[in-house]
Amino acid sequence: MRWALLVISLTVSIEGCPVGYENGEICSGHGHCAENTSSGLDETCVCDDGFAGGDCSQRICPSGRAWVDVATGNNTAHGRYVECSDMGYCDRYTGVCACREGFTGSACDRLRCPTATDSVGRARECNGVGRCLSMREAATQQDFVSLWYADAYEEWDSDMVYGCACDAGWTGYDCSERECPRGDDPLTDGVDEVQLIDCRCSRCNGTLALEFRGQRTAGIPHDATAELVEYYLETLSTITDVEVRYIGTSNDASLCDERGTTTAVTFVREFGDLPSLNATPGEVVVVDGSTSLSIASDGATSSLRSSVSSVRGTKEWIECSGRGSCDRGTGLCDCYLGFSMSDGRGSKGLIGDCGAVDANETAESFLFDGSSANNATGPCPKARPRWSDDTIAKVCSGAGTCAAQSSACNCSRGYDGDACEYKSCPVDRAWWDEASPKGAHLDATCSAAGTCDRTEGECSCGDLFEGDACQLLACPANKTQTCGEHGTCSTMAEFAEKARRISQRTGRLIAVNYSDPWDAYKLRGCLCDASEGVWRSDTSSTSYRGPFAYAYTDWTGYTCAHAMCPTGDNPFMIGRNEIQAINCTAATAGSFNVTFREAHSVELPTGASAAKVERELERLATIRDVTVTFAAAQENNNNNSNATLCASDQYVTVEFESERGDLPPLVVVDATNLAGGTVNITEVTKGTKGDLECAAAGICNREIGQCACLDGFYSGADIVPFRQKLGAVGQRGDCSFRHAGTKETKWENPLFVYSYSFALTSTGQAEVSVGALDTV
Ligand SMILES: *[C@@H]1O[C@H](CO)[C@@H](O)[C@H](O)[C@H]1NC(C)=O
Ligand SMILES: *[C@@H]1O[C@H](CO)[C@@H](O)[C@H](O)[C@H]1NC(C)=O
Ligand SMILES: *[C@@H]1O[C@H](CO)[C@@H](O)[C@H](O)[C@H]1NC(C)=O
Ligand SMILES: *[C@@H]1O[C@H](CO)[C@@H](O)[C@H](O)[C@H]1NC(C)=O
Ligand SMILES: *[C@@H]1O[C@H](CO)[C@@H](O)[C@H](O)[C@H]1NC(C)=O
Ligand SMILES: *[C@@H]1O[C@H](CO)[C@@H](O)[C@H](O)[C@H]1NC(C)=O
Ligand SMILES: *[C@@H]1O[C@H](CO)[C@@H](O)[C@H](O)[C@H]1NC(C)=O
Ligand SMILES: *[C@@H]1O[C@H](CO)[C@@H](O)[C@H](O)[C@H]1NC(C)=O
Ligand SMILES: *[C@@H]1O[C@H](CO)[C@@H](O)[C@H](O)[C@H]1NC(C)=O
Ligand SMILES: *[C@@H]1O[C@H](CO)[C@@H](O)[C@H](O)[C@H]1NC(C)=O
Ligand SMILES: *[C@@H]1O[C@H](CO)[C@@H](O)[C@H](O)[C@H]1NC(C)=O
Ligand SMILES: *[C@@H]1O[C@H](CO)[C@@H](O)[C@H](O)[C@H]1NC(C)=O
Repeated sequence: MRWALLVISLTVSIEGCPVGYENGEICSGHGHCAENTSSGLDETCVCDDGFAGGDCSQRICPSGRAWVDVATGNNTAHGRYVECSDMGYCDRYTGVCACREGFTGSACDRLRCPTATDSVGRARECNGVGRCLSMREAATQQDFVSLWYADAYEEWDSDMVYGCACDAGWTGYDCSERECPRGDDPLTDGVDEVQLIDCRCSRCNGTLALEFRGQRTAGIPHDATAELVEYYLETLSTITDVEVRYIGTSNDASLCDERGTTTAVTFVREFGDLPSLNATPGEVVVVDGSTSLSIASDGATSSLRSSVSSVRGTKEWIECSGRGSCDRGTGLCDCYLGFSMSDGRGSKGLIGDCGAVDANETAESFLFDGSSANNATGPCPKARPRWSDDTIAKVCSGAGTCAAQSSACNCSRGYDGDACEYKSCPVDRAWWDEASPKGAHLDATCSAAGTCDRTEGECSCGDLFEGDACQLLACPANKTQTCGEHGTCSTMAEFAEKARRISQRTGRLIAVNYSDPWDAYKLRGCLCDASEGVWRSDTSSTSYRGPFAYAYTDWTGYTCAHAMCPTGDNPFMIGRNEIQAINCTAATAGSFNVTFREAHSVELPTGASAAKVERELERLATIRDVTVTFAAAQENNNNNSNATLCASDQYVTVEFESERGDLPPLVVVDATNLAGGTVNITEVTKGTKGDLECAAAGICNREIGQCACLDGFYSGADIVPFRQKLGAVGQRGDCSFRHAGTKETKWENPLFVYSYSFALTSTGQAEVSVGALDTV
């Protein structure tokens, strides 16, 4: 870490408002003095957009949806926009987010796509053979290679979660694996897809364009022969081979003519149920008013010839035709015994798709090993298991049963591959996938965030992910310790559960459950330690910030390595303390327990005096200072030592002296010991004092959780005498005390000089301490 120590002397402007320690300009040159002189607010800066802090010296970083946060409703989260999306830290000097490794975007609001290292050692996004797309982009785009649907995806993560859409021939979450040739299983029956183009025109002229899977041919002349139409279709990269013939007329006739032509297009290398061709008339209209142009598919009948029907394709289109092992490293099929390269049509050929049955073998002799220990009931592939050293090929690798009808292996749990020759890897909801009518974030091997080692059946996860199925976002780790020393790695569900626990005790936060969304048990972040309390001067506590006695604060930041600063009331804003009333009626004996915020409760006996109630409340870890007043309708009062908490007509008020802002109510946690009567706690006066970090009159140094107070401000006290505008000096550590007389002195002596010393840390954060005041 590089430290630069600078000591700067600044002349304070004759105007009242703060001068930035960074550059000596009023409001650091990034704001102006408030114009309201009546309230003394003219001593405060109004910062320009993008700047913050009492002297406008702090740059604000871009905000994005929080990656991990506390749910705000049942199964509702990620709605808050926070700086750097809570996946990075803001550099206050530059206003630039320093994102966690694996996240990018100006607000750390994007997941980086996986990189793979190529043969010469370069790390390339999506291995250089895929496109890095957001969930939204993947949902809308359609390339018929890795993206098959054109849909909308509008969830919170649509522009945040990115992944790889691999080019043809590649697969895997980082596109580092090879796809193998696809083909039709030669042992099953299936038919080719046949689509019909009906075209009739009375005075024909011009061209027609045909479209398949997003690609369109050039204009095909209206008088093209069947051979020419076939030529045009095969120019499309989405079509390998089709056969085109005219029905009811010679193949040398026209695609469109007065009598009407029905063109049958048979797909001989694209298998399965295919999407329909689209026909569009070219620039020169091919038909006049009395004509028709239509496509029939999926079994529909020709509009011109009712005796002719289209055919829905039923052949498989699977890697290695389901009759070989795909080697993901080379993209080559290793055919099972008895299968070999084909011509793509079930006969021997040069396509390495295992789509042909060896001619010199009978099905039974190579497929079914009757002597095998495996009780196969039909002809199923024999293969050498890749998960053992066994070199003998067995039916279904000895790890599955044979389903006779389909000649397919039904693998035992944990085994995979068409001959069960591989082990399967664990499955969980995908981090990134193409949203389709079936949904998004569907189950995928290794959560689509890791590579499956199929000989071991184990996932090897990408950098950010962990768990058997790569199903968990890893928490930021500090070499050995996840979430550092001040946080706990927690899922979204656990964040919500924590909020629920708090809400049960305080009655303040909404009770929420976050268990249904896809990310509930996958997305994890650091749940930071909260301060244990302010009442005890335990300087060894990890939440003690010093140097002032009451400076205990919570940890913050995505690694929980940052600290909050003490909060307080800005001295220029006049506010009131919160006052709550305890109404304990008709209780004659016993006691009840109360708590505040998350603390362990304390017990209040019905007969307690005001002093006793005050003492007990101040024993709560979350309350430092309250004033308890008994003011019964009768003669009872604070000076009457006989006055009790639950006396009839007793009116008990609790004024919060140290806790600022609008506070949650004190909560009765246990009143079972109360003999008769009830306890009711209500808010009498809403607290309106500022609960602002460094009282908005200082800069928080996040690394140490201490306020660097602006010129003329100092740590304030809990109890501020009534109407004392400038606060009172004290041990809060919050800058809520306005140094009395400073304003006047400044007005009288414009050359009043303050000295600051501050150090720059390597992260650019300021560590400022205000030095002694000096006069020139
Ligand atoms: C000036 O400040 C006072 C006290 O805060 C407030 O009542 C008043 O409305 C302010 N005037 C303007 C013009 O903002
Ligand atoms: C969440 O659901 C629970 C029970 O299912 C309910 O008690 C609670 O009020 C709900 N919270 C909100 C904010 O709707
Ligand atoms: C066909 O269209 C072209 C271009 O518009 C035109 O020049 C030609 O005369 C047309 N032929 C017939 C037979 O209508
Ligand atoms: C089947 O034919 C292939 C090649 O034609 C040959 O390599 C193989 O040995 C033959 N198998 C048998 C059992 O004859
Ligand atoms: C195969 O089936 C026979 C008859 O059903 C049975 O006796 C035998 O135990 C089975 N063998 C194995 C290895 O399951
Ligand atoms: C596959 O095996 C499982 C368990 O042995 C069985 O429940 C299932 O019905 C089988 N499936 C087929 C298609 O035979
Ligand atoms: C990591 O640990 C070291 C040594 O304990 C500590 O100095 C450093 O601040 C830690 N960093 C984070 C981000 O927690
Ligand atoms: C929250 O969700 C969990 C998991 O589905 C469920 O067990 C629990 O009962 C739910 N709690 C509430 C309050 O709805
Ligand atoms: C206390 O509660 C009782 C019963 O709810 C009510 O009659 C009484 O007026 C309350 N006292 C005060 C001071 O609010
Ligand atoms: C009530 O408070 C007392 C004193 O703090 C404590 O010992 C007791 O466990 C509390 N009772 C309940 C039910 O929380
Ligand atoms: C307090 O109670 C005692 C005994 O019950 C009584 O003698 C005394 O006068 C009371 N004091 C006041 C101030 O009411
Ligand atoms: C507590 O007092 C408030 C205000 O008088 C009343 O609305 C509420 O019903 C009371 N609650 C109980 C439990 O008596």
